[in-house]
Amino acid sequence: MRVPLIAGNWKMNTTLREAVELTQKMLRDLDKIKNVDKVLCPPFISLAAIGELIKGTSIKLGAQNVYFEEKGAYTGEISPLMLADLCDFVIIGHSERRQYFNETGEIVNRKIIAALKVGLKPILCIGERLEENEAGRTEEIVTNQLNSSLTEISNITGLTIAYEPVWAIGTGRAATGRQANETIGLIRRKISKLYGERVAQDLRILYGGSVTADNATEFMQQPEIDGALVGGASLKADQFVSIVRQTSELK
Ligand code: PGA
Repeated sequence: MRVPLIAGNWKMNTTLREAVELTQKMLRDLDKIKNVDKVLCPPFISLAAIGELIKGTSIKLGAQNVYFEEKGAYTGEISPLMLADLCDFVIIGHSERRQYFNETGEIVNRKIIAALKVGLKPILCIGERLEENEAGRTEEIVTNQLNSSLTEISNITGLTIAYEPVWAIGTGRAATGRQANETIGLIRRKISKLYGERVAQDLRILYGGSVTADNATEFMQQPEIDGALVGGASLKADQFVSIVRQTSELK
């Protein structure tokens, strides 16, 4: 059914040289693992070099962000057209972008539309904050994020969703497998309402937030969880390979 996906979000880490070294460390092991889509998301400046390294392997590349215009006077931005040549995936709406760079639901929506238009596969990140979670507002928040992100998008082929509770990102305080499975199930039901059951059953929904080699099994055993968006642990070759391997064994 759904092929699991593990994406490594390197965030603002690694120089070009370090990115190449990290890729070389995991390349051979990762390439051998079957039945999992493996996606590396290094900083923009390393995409081209890593693209060369992984050519002919089963590993895919993703960017961490994209602007919604195709070209023009937008100093410092990277367009979907530029990325379409370099990679398959793009992370959109990560909570760090929402928090530090004021990305609103409307911006996230425009980015998804722009990415899909050029054939990039967006990994849309949604998730509630700690105070929202504690107030029992998780369903309301993820529903609002889904609705605003997907406004006027009638076809979500190529889309992946990552459920990332903000309180679990980079904190070492992961959700439990059961919690994540429950919210991801809820997200799938919302997608079913919006796009029909067939689309919902085909959609990959990942968990993200302090996933490590030690807790990966707990998440991958859950039926609704189709993989992970991994931050910190994706910077350690052995950890990342182990997460991918566990996923391949369990799914
Ligand atoms: P983390 O990050 O694994 O370091 O918590 C996850 C993410 O931000 O995607």
